[in-house]
Amino acid sequence: MKTPVHVAVTGAAGQIAYSLLFRIAAGDLFGPHQPVVLKLLDIPSAERVLEGVGMELDDCASPLLHGIEVSSDPSDVFDGAEAVFMLGATPRGPGMERRDLLQVNADIFSAQGRALDEAASRRVRILVVGNPANTNALIAQRNAPGLAPECFSAMTRLDHNRAIGLLARHCGCNVADIARVAIWGNHSPSQYPDLHHALVKGRPALEQVDPAWYVDEFIPTVQQRGASVIAIRGKSSAASAANAALDHMRSWFLGTPKDDWVSMAVASDGSYGIAEGLMFSFPVAVENGRFRIVQDLPLNAFSRERLRLTEAELLEERAMVSHLI
Ligand code: NAI
Repeated sequence: MKTPVHVAVTGAAGQIAYSLLFRIAAGDLFGPHQPVVLKLLDIPSAERVLEGVGMELDDCASPLLHGIEVSSDPSDVFDGAEAVFMLGATPRGPGMERRDLLQVNADIFSAQGRALDEAASRRVRILVVGNPANTNALIAQRNAPGLAPECFSAMTRLDHNRAIGLLARHCGCNVADIARVAIWGNHSPSQYPDLHHALVKGRPALEQVDPAWYVDEFIPTVQQRGASVIAIRGKSSAASAANAALDHMRSWFLGTPKDDWVSMAVASDGSYGIAEGLMFSFPVAVENGRFRIVQDLPLNAFSRERLRLTEAELLEERAMVSHLI
């Protein structure tokens, strides 16, 4: 029997976790032969809910689930963790400005960054989902100097999946026929869903769709998809977010197909002229457990301008939390 992988999940009493945890326990993260220990973190006021989630996990009788640990102390939950899903964040309340939201979450992610630094495995892979995800990931990373910056990422895989789904529906094909879609920048409406390199059935996507549809419908629909789900469902995306989080981690642990890539927000190394250190979504390929930013994609003036806009937003967010990083 393999040694269990320790998987930590923050915000474990929340709605994304309620979709995610049961899939991890069922083997959807590492496959049917890899046991896991789930380490669950939430705030003390969510203790009863978390206890109930733990009861339901027990009731799944999953042979892969070798243990459940529950705590409201990040150092306990991150101890020895090799995969960390950071879902826990404070939502935007009534009358709250973006600056206030950034500030309250900045405090959470700086404290949890320090706890990761202290306790997590040195090989840990960390995915920040809680919003504002890119800047939260930056704060956590800067507060964990003992971990390589490559241990940290933020989620734009849901945007990536949304883009693939929308393109497939428009072209009347299967999602498996689509490759090389890219999300650049921030997980926010400033993101740039890029089809210039995308392929549909092996042929350039932009030769198969109306350019006006791409600019006027495709891009804003992907950018606003989260808000549309809230408007219609009355709650933010949860099952699709959990699914994307699993996709993200599976790609990171197990690799990407040779002729394709995924979108991940990772610390910029200056690729494509993006300010170094920003947690910026790039097309990335993963081999042997290590990601690399896909290089040398030609960017036309339209794409360069879109990258600049989303980079400007991330620089502004970084400036608002500069005292914590
Ligand atoms: P939720 O509100 O249902 O759950 C959040 C949980 O985090 C709650 O149980 C809360 O008690 C907990 N929490 C708050 N502060 C915490 C702390 N300091 N430590 C540990 N836990 C803490 O929210 P939901 O729907 O599960 O979403 C989680 C986050 O993911 C939100 O910030 C949401 O905006 C974000 N999100 C990001 C997406 C992305 O694509 N990057 C997509 C969808 C949601």
